[in-house]
Amino acid sequence: MKKILCLLIIMILFGCQTQVPKVHVFVYDLSDPFIKGLSQTLENQGKRHFDIVTHDAQNSQIIQNEMIVEVLEKESPHLLIVNPVDRLGAYTIIEKVKQENIPIIFFNREPLLRDLERYDQVYYVGSKAEESGIFQAQIISNLVGGNPGKLNAVDVNADNTLQMVIFKGEQGHQDAEIRTDFVQSELIDLGYEIDVLKVIIANWSETEAYNHAKALFDVMYDEIEVIVSNNDAMALGIIQAMQEYHTLQVDLDENYVPYAIPIVGIDGIERALIMLQQGALYGTVINDSYQQALAIIDLGLALLDNDLDGLNYTLTDGYYIWIPYKKVT
Ligand code: BGC
Repeated sequence: MKKILCLLIIMILFGCQTQVPKVHVFVYDLSDPFIKGLSQTLENQGKRHFDIVTHDAQNSQIIQNEMIVEVLEKESPHLLIVNPVDRLGAYTIIEKVKQENIPIIFFNREPLLRDLERYDQVYYVGSKAEESGIFQAQIISNLVGGNPGKLNAVDVNADNTLQMVIFKGEQGHQDAEIRTDFVQSELIDLGYEIDVLKVIIANWSETEAYNHAKALFDVMYDEIEVIVSNNDAMALGIIQAMQEYHTLQVDLDENYVPYAIPIVGIDGIERALIMLQQGALYGTVINDSYQQALAIIDLGLALLDNDLDGLNYTLTDGYYIWIPYKKVT
């Protein structure tokens, strides 16, 4: 009797067990701290619902394409979540996945609309880059006293014009292009005179920004009144170069009083928020990787249920979920 009961329990258990959906996440580069944070949330929260595996393309579109092909050949995944290395690379990925009829969610690197239009099971989760540029301009406006007619002491040479340097992310990345344009246009719209001394491309990288900032400070530290960085990782590199510049100046002249050029970043990664608390970073704009990850999971669940009405986020124009940015100073 006992044996039969056991058998029955086992049969019921196995009979009722539904298959856990197989989900593959492809990220452009896990050495990018913003992407690392986002993918950790995706894994931690996603594993409650999916059998989830993450693949790191180490910044190579060729490797990412190979990884996707391999997954499609080896198993039948239920859903792909892709952070393309090159946003233009999305075209090839969409064409490939379309043949298998699998839903795909892109994030962080936005495919062109004409590529999204090629397939009826493709979506994008991200944040509007325009908003982050505008928020950076508002933070700077606050920093200089809020009156374009009379800047405060941040205007070191008192010419009522803001001498700024912009550290730009990767060329062609929608966030790098749009943030760089919008921080300037918004400052101008607010009534400020700006003088962009340099736009330095540092590819989102702390190390690259550090090297560029070191070289820059050697030649023009005193002329720069504000530094705008397209992301926090680069801001961290700039802060390190600035601290070393101060040490060097004090070594050269013991009467030198170090003064910091205010820096404004974007992302709100943990190390940047610590710098903000310590006063080394003036402000940042939170690029909410946590909410982006939750929205991706929610959309994934809705797609697998075939029920987009059950979505907890607003789907705009049939393709997009936009997560708002937030200012922090
Ligand atoms: C983030 C950067 C990150 C980049 C990667 C941007 O949205 O602000 O920190 O390096 O995405 O694609």
